[in-house]
Amino acid sequence: MPIGDLPLLRAARREATDFTPVWLMRQAGRYLPEYRALRERYKFLDLCKSPDAAATVTLQPVKRFPLDAAILFADILLVVEPMGVGLEFARGDGPVIHTPLRSRGDVERLARIDARDALPFVFETVRIVRRELDRRVPLIGFAGAPFTVASYLVEGGASRDYLETKTLMYRDPVAWHALMGVLVGVTADYLNGQIEAGVQAVQLFDSWVGALSADDYRTFVLPYSRALIRALAPGIPVIHFGTGTAALLPSMQEAGGDVIGLDWRVDLGQAWARLGPDVAVQGNLDPAVLMADPDQIRLRVRAILARAAGRPGHIFNLGHGVLQHTPVDHVAALIDMVHELSSKSGER
Ligand code: CP3
Repeated sequence: MPIGDLPLLRAARREATDFTPVWLMRQAGRYLPEYRALRERYKFLDLCKSPDAAATVTLQPVKRFPLDAAILFADILLVVEPMGVGLEFARGDGPVIHTPLRSRGDVERLARIDARDALPFVFETVRIVRRELDRRVPLIGFAGAPFTVASYLVEGGASRDYLETKTLMYRDPVAWHALMGVLVGVTADYLNGQIEAGVQAVQLFDSWVGALSADDYRTFVLPYSRALIRALAPGIPVIHFGTGTAALLPSMQEAGGDVIGLDWRVDLGQAWARLGPDVAVQGNLDPAVLMADPDQIRLRVRAILARAAGRPGHIFNLGHGVLQHTPVDHVAALIDMVHELSSKSGER
């Protein structure tokens, strides 16, 4: 089968598939015992920077489950480390940036990097995974969207209200626009490097963009996400994902993407109706539902598939990443349920 006919790539082009393809954000990660075992031997950043080990982690979920895609094991913050901001993943605390950007001067001091030179280990991981996958399923590459990466650079870590980010945006829009411009260039090179190394689709994670009003999204974010998506090599589907985006979906679509990623807060049918028929959608089971019993999971899967109503262009996923304490057998059950309940040849 030509690689472009794999179900996930057909769905991204809104072509019919025999069943709804499914993959999961954070499908490689701490809920998997084989991931935790490897993590005993590597710090998180070292794991990302070791191509053989990162390729092993990328392949762990696709070896265990009949998933319809692999996602590169890396992190959205890898690109900021060579920019000289001091990135660290402290155990249990998530990412920390030691010298966050709070002023125009801070933005000007950011190291201007060539992502293709600065992140060779990522491209090497892609090449290893592609060899190993041998056209069985496509490999998805990814990057953080400019807003979400900027939010980490400005906050210095996770945030609840994004106050430092908004303060920079509102008080010094020139600095904000300069920062976003830098991130567009670096991220475009980074994703095009992944595409040259062999990824067959890319996901842009704008995970925290739901913190913004629709007006602020249009002024401070949309032009940059659009410039980034337009700078990507043609022919590779782009999945544009964010959370808390109910008010932003039409603007995110305007920024671009072949597939719009939906979180669990929106009704998939209504969201797709608002977006219109010219775009595919991905989503959108609440990751917490995987804590429930399989019978309950099945009801929820059925409800999402009913909202997609068998229209071509639905990629099943969670509304955000797999949670750490998710039972592995519930993930296995979910993937089987999606395939079985969506199958055109079997019972609907
Ligand atoms: O399987 C996959 O999805 C691929 C790997 C992947 C990781 N991070 C590995 C990871 C992907 C696609 C990401 C993206 C990412 N990283 C995002 C966007 C997606 C999202 O969750 O919204 C963000 C915001 C980050 C930044 C980040 N990395 C945070 C906030 C954290 C700490 C929170 C947490 O879950 O621990 C990380 C660490 C991280 N990235 C882990 C993994 C598997 C856990 C690290 C560990 O092993 O301790």
